[in-house]
Amino acid sequence: MTYDVEQIRRDFPILERKVRGRPLVYLDNAATTQKPRQVIDALVHYYEHYNANIHRGLHTLAEEATAAYEGARVKAGRFINAAAPEQEIIFTRNTTESLNLVANAWGRKFLEPGDEILFTAMEHHSNLVPWQMIALETGAKVRYIEIDDDGRLIGDDVRAKINERTKVVAITQMSNVLGTINPVREIAELAHRAGAIVVVDGAQSVPHMPVDVRELGCDFLAFSSHKMLGPTGVGVLYGTREALDAMDPFLGGGEMIKRVTYERSTYADLPNKFEAGTPNIADVIAFGAAIDYLEALGMEAVREHEIAITQYAIDRLSAMDGVKVYGPREAADKGGAVTFNYRDIHPHDLSQVLDQYAVAIRAGHHCAQPLMRRLDAVATARASFYLYNRHDEVDALIEGIRASDRIFGNVVRAGA
Ligand SMILES: Cc1ncc(COP(=O)(O)O)c(C=O)c1O
Repeated sequence: MTYDVEQIRRDFPILERKVRGRPLVYLDNAATTQKPRQVIDALVHYYEHYNANIHRGLHTLAEEATAAYEGARVKAGRFINAAAPEQEIIFTRNTTESLNLVANAWGRKFLEPGDEILFTAMEHHSNLVPWQMIALETGAKVRYIEIDDDGRLIGDDVRAKINERTKVVAITQMSNVLGTINPVREIAELAHRAGAIVVVDGAQSVPHMPVDVRELGCDFLAFSSHKMLGPTGVGVLYGTREALDAMDPFLGGGEMIKRVTYERSTYADLPNKFEAGTPNIADVIAFGAAIDYLEALGMEAVREHEIAITQYAIDRLSAMDGVKVYGPREAADKGGAVTFNYRDIHPHDLSQVLDQYAVAIRAGHHCAQPLMRRLDAVATARASFYLYNRHDEVDALIEGIRASDRIFGNVVRAGA
């Protein structure tokens, strides 16, 4: 069930790039992934051959563009095994907008003072701040599930905090910092028994492992095209028909209406009700090409490849004196993000040294400031892998870290 990584890499023009005379080692995939030629071509092909506004036009180009756009919707729905892709997939700008859509459209209608919104200690700001905002507006209260020192949710805390006041359980399926994969299905069962809806942040999980919304039993799932080989500017909100039907529109304008008078309007059926205005047609279509690419490889194979390279990275980093790795140590329990600190070298400094070696990683709080405090870290370094990464790129990372020790180690310790 594996694939030929060398052959895959040839599809990604950017991977031929040199940085400071060395071959690029791109290990910042949790932030955004690189794009294969097939996706870039789909974008160019659209603009060169059938650029037109969708839905409204009756000419050939408009019909072709509409068919391709709606085709991408069906592909996205099938990719996560939605029961009704034509209605249950809403295109947004990104995961952040998808989560804001739910928080606003569902939250404003159904949350009341005293209701509880439960998220986890490892949420990205985009599955945390929108809930805080809607809680302020509605009088609901936010709570969070604690994690243990390995970066896993504490089961007792899950059971203790889901209760009859819980109305929303908002949970990431895969942490962008720790890589932890959360037991969403079990949590969704508990949440539903308590009468809460389940909103899943799939920004890191959907690109890296098979995800089946019906098996998870979630009400909503959000993810971004740009983290799964597709263009920026496209997000997906999956919602069950029942959940989406119950919500009022988030934005008003063209495309989302049935009938408009000066006094009032009626709204379009799903999914148009939530897609006001001209959408990001070209990028949605190219996102469809990204899904085709992933499906041709097979998500099981992608996951298998990432487990192997992630375990190699964890093992090599853990074997280094002075490296602290955060999160689960077994790659089979986590995604391809490995977060660490090295001695007392600030991750920003480390990242800059690594850049001298053409190794791109991320350093900072990773949009998870509360989690950083829980980990007792000001910031961390993160190497994150994808389907085109090779083991020798992990070796380049290790070499770069060693070099940073030579450059900074003495200075930092002398000043300490
Ligand atoms: C877990 C998680 N949630 C949400 C987001 C936000 O995604 P976007 O910036 O595409 O909206 C990210 C991006 O890093 C993420 O890793």
